[in-house]
Amino acid sequence: MDNDRTKRGIVIEDDWPGYSLDLFTYPEHYHTDIECVYIPHGVIMDRIERLARYVMQDFGDNNIMVLCVLKGGYKFCSDLVESIKVLGRNSNKYLETRVEFIRLKSYLNDQSTEDLHIIGSRDLSFLRGKSVLIVEAIVDTGKTMKALLKHVETFEPKMVKVAGLLVKRVPHMAEGLTDYVGFEIPNHFVVGYALDYNEYFRDLNHICVISKTGKLKYKV
Ligand code: HPA
Ligand code: MG
Repeated sequence: MDNDRTKRGIVIEDDWPGYSLDLFTYPEHYHTDIECVYIPHGVIMDRIERLARYVMQDFGDNNIMVLCVLKGGYKFCSDLVESIKVLGRNSNKYLETRVEFIRLKSYLNDQSTEDLHIIGSRDLSFLRGKSVLIVEAIVDTGKTMKALLKHVETFEPKMVKVAGLLVKRVPHMAEGLTDYVGFEIPNHFVVGYALDYNEYFRDLNHICVISKTGKLKYKV
């Protein structure tokens, strides 16, 4: 059954070393830049399938207005929406899903900067009265998500839920902010599956831990 534990996500413990790189394939140009495969692409996809089910249960008959947080959220969003559609087809329960994009920026190198910038989105007043699903790749302190939620609430949507593929265990992590969590991970900087380090590594399918070499090579 679904309960708080399953919705908290698959918990990856602090001592999880990841999988050795030579067990998987990945773009050759990154071979010195990553330490390990932390979450293989297939596992990500399987977990997303389960998240789609939670979403379907909670949204009931309401059409879903998906708000995808770019750039990191684009793969998660696309795979989650696809999973929701497949579930709908297989259960004869078609929800309309509409996707809108919002762009935020708060990271330079591997450090969070203080301020939240909404750097690309049209007027969000179309959210009024809608059932909104915010789709974000990674939530850590939750500062960004809290600011975004507050902003979204000003448009008076009918309901708002948050899907986060990854939630990081950091000091003062925001409990209960993310309704659908893929994985809870230790406080490592990870890349791949659209997560970047200064715009690199988005083309990596697995979620990986970046190496010292990688951090230096792509530092700005
Ligand atoms: N990787 C990539 N982008 C991020 C991360 C991370 O671990 N945390 C916040 N933004
Ligand atoms: Mg980034």
